[in-house]
Amino acid sequence: MVELPETDASAASGEAAPAGPSLAVLLAAGDVTKGERTFKKCQTCHTVEAGGDNKTGPNLYNIVGGEMASKDGFNYSDALTNYGSPWTYELLDAYLERPSRAIPGNKMSFAGLRRDTERADVIAYLRTFTENPPALPAVEEVTPTDEPAEEMDQQ
Ligand code: HEC
Repeated sequence: MVELPETDASAASGEAAPAGPSLAVLLAAGDVTKGERTFKKCQTCHTVEAGGDNKTGPNLYNIVGGEMASKDGFNYSDALTNYGSPWTYELLDAYLERPSRAIPGNKMSFAGLRRDTERADVIAYLRTFTENPPALPAVEEVTPTDEPAEEMDQQ
């Protein structure tokens, strides 16, 4: 059984992410208040409110579902500029989990948020600073199964 500490130090351990709840389920449970707390890790480099300044990283207003690398006056890496996709929920989640792996060559020096729930919370928070965010992905009907209890421990 792997017990990951609740810090970014977990970046060092465990490559394989065990299959947990789907992104749709996680996002549906996203907690804005917790996300605001997690966003403190981002605040050194990012503002999120409308008209906020770019810092080490670009302002993140309207980012959910928004165009990538589109903030005026920020000098983005070629990796982000040329990626060619809007910030879908899936992509945001993958990027925030491990920026360097999701979009190789991008210059956000942040280890990532390893916990699925933490990413869902921060995305929920970013969503509140987005004018017309895309609808959350639909949660599929799941028939309750006898999931082994260890599932929880592994995350
Ligand atoms: C050490 C500084 C730093 C930290 C901490 C950081 N970022 Fe970033 N972030 C950046 C930089 C720099 C970029 C631009 C990357 C590029 O151009 O390749 C970026 C880009 C982004 C983008 C893409 C923006 C766009 O306009 O396309 C998102 C979304 C993002 N960061 C979210 C976050 C979130 C959420 C957190 C906290 C969980 C976070 N970042 C923590 C520096 C940081």
